[in-house]
Amino acid sequence: MTNDTLTGTVALVTGASSGIGEAAAVRLAREGAAVAVLARRSDRLEGLVGRIGEQGGRALALTADVTDEQQARVAVARTVEELGRLDILVNNAGVMLLGPIVDAPVEEWQRMVELNVLGLLYCAHAALPHLLAAAEDADRRVADLINISSVAGRVARAGSGVYNLTKHGVGAFSDSLRQEVTGRHVRVALVEPGAVETELAGHNRPEVLEQISKRFGSIERLTADDIADAIAYIVTRPRHVAVNELLIRPTEQQG
Ligand SMILES: NC(=O)c1ccc[n+]([C@@H]2O[C@H](COP(=O)([O-])OP(=O)(O)OC[C@H]3O[C@@H](n4cnc5c(N)ncnc54)[C@H](OP(=O)(O)O)[C@@H]3O)[C@@H](O)[C@H]2O)c1
Repeated sequence: MTNDTLTGTVALVTGASSGIGEAAAVRLAREGAAVAVLARRSDRLEGLVGRIGEQGGRALALTADVTDEQQARVAVARTVEELGRLDILVNNAGVMLLGPIVDAPVEEWQRMVELNVLGLLYCAHAALPHLLAAAEDADRRVADLINISSVAGRVARAGSGVYNLTKHGVGAFSDSLRQEVTGRHVRVALVEPGAVETELAGHNRPEVLEQISKRFGSIERLTADDIADAIAYIVTRPRHVAVNELLIRPTEQQG
């Protein structure tokens, strides 16, 4: 069943082949948005497009690596060409590679900076002219850019230094951009989840995985749908309401 809160709008969700991005795409489609779903694993995207279609929604698969500026730009352009406009960007693709700074594999830092910072910036840069246009001429006269940060974007800890750096950067960028475009009715929101049950931690080295499971071992994690709910809440507020920042931890998560 769909309802029509976002009928007539177009959303682009990056990192939509799993986890939070996939759940957000399904949820936005259920609210009535046509959704462009972006990631590198095209088989997963095709499956998602099929499922959204079966539920009465409309989706477009965009296979792209957003760490490549040109691919990010083309993906945004294809969204607008094929779905007609762009009202909502969910800048979600990210990677979390934890562990001590001393003797860390520098390649892991490069992957995080390239995706969590540069990939997010490339998508924002390409999307902003379309979001500004949507805020001017679309029926709802407002547009949304949601950046997915983390509790790690608020609190630094030993063992997550460069992930902290990327997510704190996302927070600073988001609020600067918010001040720049909010007068033109592009709402910039920052979502900061705590531990969510997804594939994210699985990319870590075995010794780091052990540390992560020691820290979060027994707590009941959030689901990707919990974060999709928050995203849906943000984009369905009336035009005069901008949710700037949402920090969402599992109830049992202390820090
Ligand atoms: N899970 C948590 O506990 C948690 C907590 C706080 C914040 N977050 C944040 O939430 C966001 C989503 O993470 P998740 O937990 O849903 O993890 P996930 O399941 O690993 O999802 C990450 C997504 O990013 C995509 N991606 C990776 N590299 C990409 C690239 N170069 N270009 C385009 N897409 C790329 C992946 O798809 P492909 O591999 O197919 O490209 C996947 O769809 C991240 O920004 C993460 O930092 C997660």
